[in-house]
Amino acid sequence: MARSKIKRIGILTGGGDCPGLNAVIRGVTKPALDYGLKVIGIVDGFEGLVSGKAIELYNKDVSGILAAGGTILGSSNKGDPFHWPEEVNGKVKIFDRSKEALKNYEAWQLDAIIAIGGDGTMHISNKLSEMGMNIVGVPKTIDNDLQATDQTFGHDSAVYVVSEALDRLHTTASAHHRVMVIETMGRYAGWIALNGGLAGGADIILIPEIPFDWNVVYERVLHRNMIGKRFSLVCVAEGAKPMDGEMVMKRKDVKRTDPIVLGGIGEIIAKRISDNTGLETRYTVLGHLQRGGSPTPYDRILSTKFGTNAIQLAMKKQFGRMVALKGCEIKSVSIADAISKQKLVRHSDQAVLAASAVGVSFGTKNL
Ligand code: F6P
Repeated sequence: MARSKIKRIGILTGGGDCPGLNAVIRGVTKPALDYGLKVIGIVDGFEGLVSGKAIELYNKDVSGILAAGGTILGSSNKGDPFHWPEEVNGKVKIFDRSKEALKNYEAWQLDAIIAIGGDGTMHISNKLSEMGMNIVGVPKTIDNDLQATDQTFGHDSAVYVVSEALDRLHTTASAHHRVMVIETMGRYAGWIALNGGLAGGADIILIPEIPFDWNVVYERVLHRNMIGKRFSLVCVAEGAKPMDGEMVMKRKDVKRTDPIVLGGIGEIIAKRISDNTGLETRYTVLGHLQRGGSPTPYDRILSTKFGTNAIQLAMKKQFGRMVALKGCEIKSVSIADAISKQKLVRHSDQAVLAASAVGVSFGTKNL
């Protein structure tokens, strides 16, 4: 029989980590303990829910973690209960272990789980909700590609890293009269490259949503050289692709919820620029630097607001919902709606228009 008030709450961090996860855990746990709830930290995301790994969280566990990167609970992007990879006779086989997840949820007597994660985590949360678990979602990802929220936490911290890296590359590019290509993360969305490139003064920004023309890229760096600006900064998203080509895949990993791992376009672009313009070119792949370290003040604030609002939703039994930033307010949306569409950059987005207005090239003549 359903209890009238919630008494035990689970919390997990799923998928790739990002700055701000600990701030959310703190934002959920501190008020939950004040309300007299027991807080069960599920270890390594959904992996812990399936395999029964959890720890009780006390005030001391969440004290002093606001500024800490990573997650005190651990995370995994291979622990999807509905897509559980196991090696059988040297081959990876996929199993459905969602019933074990439900069993642990019941054994731990959880009234709800606060699931902190990106679209993968929200997809899993939606399916677990359909099986009868009470879930409240918190949108995390450096990629910022969740449609239902104006911003995910973690994105601002990643943008900060890109912007700082561009500032550093700027000085060395200028000293050596080089073209510097920087590759960012972001999967199928260009938000990190767009916002990071805009903040760091990139001359060319290449994103998946705006396939680029090689000749426009060559012409732009040559033109800059001709007018005496003897260096260029090219900020490229890992999912960027030329008009006549495909995204560059680094590897395929069937154990992951999304098996495609992107990466490598930065190196290709640097080589093609060098071969076709004769300009000395170097590339830098920022990789996981964008996911590590301390959250920016913006992300600390957003994460705290998300966490404290998520526990409020759980107290009000508003399950199957995800907290979301709408303008300056924290609202909630249904998890099902949140995963219905990916948020991609549109040509009409203000950041694209502002970048174009200050002379940034998106590698195309048809913007
Ligand atoms: O979704 C976050 C993200 O960092 C993407 O930007 C990137 O493509 C992917 O995760 C990298 O995953 P992993 O850490 O498993 O290499």
